[in-house]
Amino acid sequence: MPARCRAEAVTPCKSFDLAAYLEKSASAVNRALDAFLPKATVKPVTIHRAMRYSLFAGGKRMRPALCLAAAEACGGRRAEAMPLACAVECIHTYSLIHDDLPAMDNDDLRRGKPTNHKVFGEGIAVLAGDALLTQAFEIAAQCRGWPCYSHRDIVLELARASGSLQLVGGQVADLEAEGKSISKSQLRYIHERKTSALLCCSVRLGGMSANCTPRQLVALTDFGYHVGLAFQVIDDILDVTQTSQQLGKTAGKDTAVQKATYPAIVGLDRSRRIAAELTQLAFEALAPFRGRAQALEAIAQYVLRRDR
Ligand code: IPE
Ligand code: IPE
Ligand code: MG
Ligand code: MG
Ligand code: MG
Repeated sequence: MPARCRAEAVTPCKSFDLAAYLEKSASAVNRALDAFLPKATVKPVTIHRAMRYSLFAGGKRMRPALCLAAAEACGGRRAEAMPLACAVECIHTYSLIHDDLPAMDNDDLRRGKPTNHKVFGEGIAVLAGDALLTQAFEIAAQCRGWPCYSHRDIVLELARASGSLQLVGGQVADLEAEGKSISKSQLRYIHERKTSALLCCSVRLGGMSANCTPRQLVALTDFGYHVGLAFQVIDDILDVTQTSQQLGKTAGKDTAVQKATYPAIVGLDRSRRIAAELTQLAFEALAPFRGRAQALEAIAQYVLRRDR
């Protein structure tokens, strides 16, 4: 067995217990999020209940896991990265609440439960999303910063990944592509923004919290970009191949509303090949870590093989 997983073969890393790693990181993230957020009993209780409802509904916590794993790959401590891991999960959850609104994807089920607007109404769901986005910046602004990265750098990183040039921009392009036939490069443009940007940001923030070198940051960016793209290609595939019960969200929805997706444009087989190629590129980006990025490798592999 080589010291690090062989990236070339996209084979499982047997020496690394990813299930245990993800479980441990998710429970630590849940505890930290619980401490950062106002309690559900704090006035106005409706908004705090709504924020917590979606945040603790049972997401996979992939972005926080990537953030913590990137910090560890750079020799950093989990505790230093934890606020940033929580910040990206708050942004992600806000984006899901808004994504599910009738004015966007109009979904009733998320994380195995009725969507936020189904429980609290559209007005509160919009505000719960707004509040989670704001909460992320409040958490990030409290970081003390590191010798090579000030908290200004951290806040800029989050703002750029979530703003109109990235996540929001991707969501706009996604909505505008509905019902249209678009090219592969237009679809790539959407995926880079709506999904890859925040995954990449999660990985970069982890590295920054470990005071990573510029070379490590370049490698993490390359890794995060590709794993982020693979993540959305797989999301598109799962929408076609899995049940709503398995996904915890309504399956088959993309086809029903003629979303621009990889399976719709290139078919399932080619979509799977593209996801594997992107994962391969993500593995290759980790070369400078010389075996110290086992958790990142295992997460990339999980992203490719996941079934929910
Ligand atoms: C779903 O993300 C939305 C996308 C960007 C594809 P996840 O699949 O990470 O959703 P949760 O956090 O596990 O619910
Ligand atoms: C969601 O993409 C991307 C963001 C929320 C930024 P999708 O619309 O494909 O996500 P799901 O399938 O509803 O989880
Ligand atoms: Mg959407
Ligand atoms: Mg959606
Ligand atoms: Mg989807």
